[in-house]
Amino acid sequence: MAKELVIVLDFGGQYNQLIARRVRECNVYCEVHPHTLSIEKIKEMNPKGIIFTGGPNSVYGEDSPTYSKEIFELGVPILGICYGSQLIAHLLGGKVATAPVSEYGKTEVEVDKKSLLFGNLVGGAESKIVDDVVVDVEKPTDKDVVKTICWMSHTDYIAEAPDGFTVTAKTPVCPVAAMELPEKKIYATQFHPEVMHTVEGVKMLSNFVYKVCECSGDWKMSSFVEDTIKQVREKVGDGKVLCALSGGVDSSVAAVLLSKAIGKQLTCVFVDQGLLRKNEGDEVEAVFGPDGPYDLNFIRVNCQERFYEKLAGVTEPERKRKIIGEEFIRVFEEEAKKIGAVDFLVQGTIYPDVIESGLGKSAVIKSHHNVGGLPDCVDFKEIIEPLRLLFKDEVRKAGRELGIPEYLVNRQPFPGPGLGIRIVGEVTAEKVKIVQDADFIYREEIAKAGITGLGQYFAALSNMRSVGVMGDGRTYDYAVVLRAVNTSDFMTAECSEIPFEVLQKVMNRIINEVKGVNRVMYDLTSKPPGTIEME
Ligand code: XMP
Repeated sequence: MAKELVIVLDFGGQYNQLIARRVRECNVYCEVHPHTLSIEKIKEMNPKGIIFTGGPNSVYGEDSPTYSKEIFELGVPILGICYGSQLIAHLLGGKVATAPVSEYGKTEVEVDKKSLLFGNLVGGAESKIVDDVVVDVEKPTDKDVVKTICWMSHTDYIAEAPDGFTVTAKTPVCPVAAMELPEKKIYATQFHPEVMHTVEGVKMLSNFVYKVCECSGDWKMSSFVEDTIKQVREKVGDGKVLCALSGGVDSSVAAVLLSKAIGKQLTCVFVDQGLLRKNEGDEVEAVFGPDGPYDLNFIRVNCQERFYEKLAGVTEPERKRKIIGEEFIRVFEEEAKKIGAVDFLVQGTIYPDVIESGLGKSAVIKSHHNVGGLPDCVDFKEIIEPLRLLFKDEVRKAGRELGIPEYLVNRQPFPGPGLGIRIVGEVTAEKVKIVQDADFIYREEIAKAGITGLGQYFAALSNMRSVGVMGDGRTYDYAVVLRAVNTSDFMTAECSEIPFEVLQKVMNRIINEVKGVNRVMYDLTSKPPGTIEME
């Protein structure tokens, strides 16, 4: 079990989980907790380090989040980022003010390499990011001061560091871009080391956890898997558990993890709700059913009509999501009753689902049905979400640790509400068939063209019908939308550049082979401003 823990105290910033994830990438276990976490609890958790996050407030705001000054007396190293840095300055007697010029975006920052945080920085163009990791392109410099690109996003700034602090970074408009009090192990940066645009940010966080917190790096994804298996065993005891299995990466990883933890106390229920991709029901059954490689209790429930009836006439996306989410739970409850005495429901919820459903206190983008789409009343004693803190690529790593075959771990994600949110407007059996067939052709052609590395790609059905001409006759049919995006965390995404001839081929085949479609469009939108799915 990992013994070293770094706590991220959440003051409302957007990048809080990203900080945790970067620390975990340094092989140190890290969890995000609200800034209301009590000092007693922190002492109990015995962390090796604490990181104060950024946040949208000003330290002078009436309701701005804060923390007791006692935290600085614990002897635990602290790193404040952005708002977190201003809060440290404010609490310890420095001066925070509105900056004469706000800094936003990539900014050249002059850093003092004598600081433990910055000792191995090489500066500016001499470092670059390869596969998420910052590498030194040239030999480290022995200059004391280097200029390195950092991501700034602030209107307030630290105008004066508190007494005793040393200023270790600045920009022409920000006199205290970083400061520290090494005797008390307190460090602060106005910029965000956790975002990729801070070219040497990973090094800074690594310096904090290794050089300041003196961690040894005892955490790996395998520790996460082992710890989670232990925790699940303790929680479940000899109780029975039902796993909501969709066959997608997240729920598959959750199912295999749970099966390793509690064996046949687990039953996986796969609901074929009539909103799956073409042939998908049979494919999932082939992997997790009795003829597959896993020794699981597996139940497939075919209930297409039931879902279509509930969705009839409903067009509003959030309503559709809630209906699908609720109906799923009702099916699981019914199956649980048949099994008898099931206390726990397992879901493969991952971190972006939590955030986009607004449960991480940011705005609701859409209610991912396995989180925000849950009905108020759920007939299970508890819901277990073992992957809730992980990003998609971390879930894939966990899947590999569990020995799940590469083709399953690398499956592109498929949302819980399925084609229900890829059909704009009312869902009908006819539209489901159209989108299934179009999507099948699209996937087939992408595979034939040997295109790999796409984050997610699929066909969706717009609610638009338009006039066309086919075989000298007028048509008035649906438009299919093709989407393909590059993304690693699914929080942001860019439209992929699919070769034009591949798109043309897909368009031709869809129009010729799928009845009811006379137009095919390619969606160029990135996220933001769009989202990956249509609804
Ligand atoms: P969006 O459309 O929000 O999607 O940009 C981000 C990622 O999440 C998937 N997604 C969902 N997954 N339940 C899920 O399990 C949902 O309700 C849901 N909605 C979107 C989507 O496919 C993409 O990978």
